[in-house]
Amino acid sequence: MKVKAPTNIAVLKYWGKHPLWEEYHIPNKSSLSFTVEGLYTETELEVEKGNGEIRFELNGREITPDMPEFEYVGKFLKKVFKIVPELKHYNYYVKSHNNFPTAAGYASSASGFAALAKALQVTFRELEPQVYQKYLADERKLSVFARLGSGSATRSIPEQGGFVAWWRGLDPHYPYGPEEVTPATFEKNLFASYAESLFPPEHWSDLRIIYTHVEKKEKKIKSRAGMKQTVKTNPVYWSWVDYDEYVLAPKLVEAVRGKDFSTFAEVAIQASDGLHAMMYYTYPRIRYLNDTSEAIIEKILELNQEETKAAYTFDAGPNAIVFTLAPYENEVLSSLKEVVEDVYVTRPGKGPEVIE
Ligand code: ADP
Ligand code: DP6
Repeated sequence: MKVKAPTNIAVLKYWGKHPLWEEYHIPNKSSLSFTVEGLYTETELEVEKGNGEIRFELNGREITPDMPEFEYVGKFLKKVFKIVPELKHYNYYVKSHNNFPTAAGYASSASGFAALAKALQVTFRELEPQVYQKYLADERKLSVFARLGSGSATRSIPEQGGFVAWWRGLDPHYPYGPEEVTPATFEKNLFASYAESLFPPEHWSDLRIIYTHVEKKEKKIKSRAGMKQTVKTNPVYWSWVDYDEYVLAPKLVEAVRGKDFSTFAEVAIQASDGLHAMMYYTYPRIRYLNDTSEAIIEKILELNQEETKAAYTFDAGPNAIVFTLAPYENEVLSSLKEVVEDVYVTRPGKGPEVIE
C-alpha cells in the first residue's frame, strides 16, 4: 500500500507550542495555509504482528535509530502507541520518498507525516476496525495524528486541500485552567486542535505559488528547536500571537473568501515579516533569510509599487515562496529571475491520496 501526501505553505505561520502541550504539538496560535500541488511525499507502509519495531527508509537510504532523521518518526510512533495501545502490537516498515529537498525549509516533515498518518489510516481500516472507527476514520482526528509527527503536517491532511486552517483549539493564555487531567479531558484537549479545509483549490483558480530555490542545503536550526527558543526568550512573542490570532487570521480568511489579492498580499507579507522578526528577537538570534532572500523581497516591493502583483513568504529557510495571479505570472517570474535562477511554479492542490 502506498500513499501520496502534499506539502503545504503557511501564509499565517505556526511558531511555538502551547506550554502544557509541547509534546503533543498544540500550537499557541492558529495557522492558515495552502496545500501545494506538485511537492509531495510518497510513503509505503507495511505492518506485521510484533512489538512496535520500526524500520525507516527515507529517500532510498536506511535510517537507523541512532541517526538524527530517525528522531521524529520514532517519537511519532511512540505517541501514537500511547494514545492507541492496540497499535503497539505491530512492527512497522516505512519507506518514504520526498520529491523535493528534505529539511531545507520546504516542509518535508509536513508532507512526510501527513503521508504516514494517511498510511496508518488505510492500513488499519481492515486490520483494526475498532481503532479505525474511533481514531482514524475522521479527517479532523487524522489531522491530530499527523500533528504528533510534525505540527505543519496537520494542515496537509484535509482531502479537499486548497486553503486550510489549523485551529489552535486551546487558548495558551489560560494554560493552567481548573480542568483536572483525566483520560477524558486529555483526549478532549488533544483533539481540540485540528485542521479543516476552508476553500477547495478551484476556489481561487488563478492563484499561483512560485517556489524559489535560493538554497537547497539542510538548515542549521530545525524549526522545532528554533520555535522553542523563541517562546522562551522573545519578550514580545505573546503580542505577536494575539495579533495574528485576532487580527490577521480573520482578515486573511475574508481576503481568500473574496479573492481579494491586494488584502491577501498585505496580510501574507506582514505575517511572514512578523515571523522573521520574532526569530530575530529570539536569543540567541535566529536568522534564516540571506542576501538573496532580501533581494527577492526588494523585487516584490518594487513590483507592487503601483498595483499589488505579488506577495512573498518565508518559512524556516532562505527560499522565498511567492504568491501571484495568472495575469502577472510572467512579469513576476522575469523580475524574480534577475536574482534567482531556479524557480518552480505551482498552485493550490488537493490533499492526500492512496496511489497503490
Ligand atoms: P523541513 O523544512 O523539510 O520540514 P524539518 O527540519 O522541519 O525540515 O524536518 C525535517 C525532518 O522531518 C527530517 O529530519 C525527518 O526526520 C523528517 N522527515 C522528512 N521527510 C520525511 C518523510 N518523508 N517521512 C518521515 N519523516 C520525514
Ligand atoms: C516556519 O511543523 O516543522 O514552517 O511541529 O516541531 O515539527 P514541529 O515544527 P514544524 O514547523 C513549521 C514552522 C514553519 C511555519 C509553518 O509551517 O506554519
